[in-house]
Amino acid sequence: MIESSKVKKILYGGDYNPEQWPEETWEEDMRLLKLAHIDVVTLNVFSWAMLQPDEETYDFSKLDKIMELVTKHGMKICLATSTGAHPAWMARKHPDILRTEFNGMKRKFGSRHNSCPNSPTYHKYARALAQKLAERYKNYDNIVAWHISNEFGGECYCENCEKAFRKWLQNKYQTIEAVNQAWDTAFWGHTFYDFEDIVAPNLLSEHFASNRTTFQGISLDYKRFNSESILNCYRIEYDAVHAVTPDIPITTNLMGTYQPLDYQMWAKYMDFISWDNYPSNEAPYEETAMRHDLMRGIKQGKPFALMEQTPSVTNWLPYNSLKRPGVMRLWSYQAVAHGADTVMFFQMKRSIGACEKYHGAVIDHAGHENTRVFREVAALGAELERIGARTLGARTKAQAAIVFDWDNWWATDYSAGPSVNLHYCDEIINYYKALNDQNISVDMIGVEDDLSGYQLVIAPILYMVKPEYDEKLRAFVQAGGTFVTTFFSGYVDEHDLVTVGGYPGKLRDILGIWVEEEDALPDETRNSFTYEGTVYPAVMICDLLHTEGARALCAYEKDFYAGMPALTCNDFGEGKAYYVATRSNEQFYRDFTRKLCREAGIAPVLDTPEKVEATKRVNDNGSFLFLLNHDDKEQEVALPEGGVDILTDVSYEAGGKLKLAGKGVAIIQLD
Ligand code: GLA
Ligand code: ZN
Repeated sequence: MIESSKVKKILYGGDYNPEQWPEETWEEDMRLLKLAHIDVVTLNVFSWAMLQPDEETYDFSKLDKIMELVTKHGMKICLATSTGAHPAWMARKHPDILRTEFNGMKRKFGSRHNSCPNSPTYHKYARALAQKLAERYKNYDNIVAWHISNEFGGECYCENCEKAFRKWLQNKYQTIEAVNQAWDTAFWGHTFYDFEDIVAPNLLSEHFASNRTTFQGISLDYKRFNSESILNCYRIEYDAVHAVTPDIPITTNLMGTYQPLDYQMWAKYMDFISWDNYPSNEAPYEETAMRHDLMRGIKQGKPFALMEQTPSVTNWLPYNSLKRPGVMRLWSYQAVAHGADTVMFFQMKRSIGACEKYHGAVIDHAGHENTRVFREVAALGAELERIGARTLGARTKAQAAIVFDWDNWWATDYSAGPSVNLHYCDEIINYYKALNDQNISVDMIGVEDDLSGYQLVIAPILYMVKPEYDEKLRAFVQAGGTFVTTFFSGYVDEHDLVTVGGYPGKLRDILGIWVEEEDALPDETRNSFTYEGTVYPAVMICDLLHTEGARALCAYEKDFYAGMPALTCNDFGEGKAYYVATRSNEQFYRDFTRKLCREAGIAPVLDTPEKVEATKRVNDNGSFLFLLNHDDKEQEVALPEGGVDILTDVSYEAGGKLKLAGKGVAIIQLD
């Protein structure tokens, strides 16, 4: 769908499940969806039971009608493969498709996203269904994308998986000795004599405290194995549909910062990225921005599809508050501002039964167009029509990057110590928010990505330094880049084995420091440091470090380590490497990153009042400045360059002032 000649505008639509309704209602749905300017529907997301009532029988008659219906009404189709929930007969006849949970409990039929990723039965039938769908509908030229399964995720600890895990390990390590070494099994006499000794690490085996593990090595490998196993399910279907319809791009809907799946690896097998965005009303908008940038980043900056969002409410939060007037529009444009080329919803129409019947939809239970939500959806649809193709394919140009790495996430969150409050994503957000609040464009990059285009690279909690990543960082800093990392970095290798000789291990020469000890501060305890005249708190973790060439920029002010550096800078080659030895507050992250950007020559997209976000996307049609007012009150923005607001056709001179209503949006096509 992305970068396809079939697409001439920001596609607008989402999940539509007419099979849950009597056929007589379908034409009225079409009238309403057209009225709302919907032009793409995601079909067939959960219809496996209907399409395959038993082992031999396939029945596409109803789906045929649905395909015809939406085609007749001129809509594009995002065609799902329906494998996100298996049919009841399959669970009854082939219990190997049922997952086993972390606690060892074998599931029965029920719920969804519940198939064992290593079940041969699941592979066989999922492949067959995907292939049949592709063969049957290959001549529909309004299919703009394949949507494989739905929100792949979760974990399985069944016997199938345990066996497959042993094979995966054999393939990775070749010998049991290599496994023992990688996992340091001499600890607690865990030595394995044979691959057959290895069991899945779950509640019955290595579980330790809330969500930790006694053996990080095996648990980390199981995370990788599980993510790859589920990816394999996606790839089985990818191959099946791709063989029949090589020109239709293929995706699956991701979930942003979803821990169980290494999306950087997944992205390699996706033709374009699509993802489902469900922030709560209270979520800071910068967190949503970070997730959009992450979803753009895993595919090297290519535009992505916003596959789902709710038009109004969800059904699964503790408090399913309404999106306030204007918020659906604002958040839709926030997605576009960060790289989305579609705006899509779950769902077109509320069901009458089961757990999502109160989930927001374009067509409410009232069944007509006279609702607030419908009016807002229709108004946005009309606006997107007016924008047309102008912003499609536009890229974000960032000089600053934040490193995000799933292995680091897993390893940090699995580590026993130093603090229960240590969470990888929190520190990522701290830095991201600081940059976003200043309208500094950020690329969220992985450790495989090239660093040479950036002036500033921040790697919060680079706990695990994978082979050669230190080399990449060394080259980046030597060539003049600015690198920033934090406490709990450089500790371990890719197996979570400590790099001995002093922390931060392989990063030590780049940073010019030696971290001798690490103090964890209970919630109510704080230290402090004074940086460029301002006193900031030091919380959660305080590293006790010695400089080895680096300059100490400020020092702790309390406790027995008062006077030891809290922030250091090392001149290394042409560049600089900073080490932030503690967690601080929002003000610090903002002040510190502002200084870094100034030093590195990185300018914000625009200076705006608080809570007004500004991003820029560029394509052959020009540069588009997105202004998003997350505040409830009107805000004024000064425009250094002239341009036209493509939402209102109002022109602005350079130096002109633009008023943004509360929750308002402007998209200025710059002159
Ligand atoms: C997910 C799923 C949808 C639906 C929504 C509800 O994103 O993909 O099928 O359940 O959540 O918010
Ligand atoms: Zn399994």
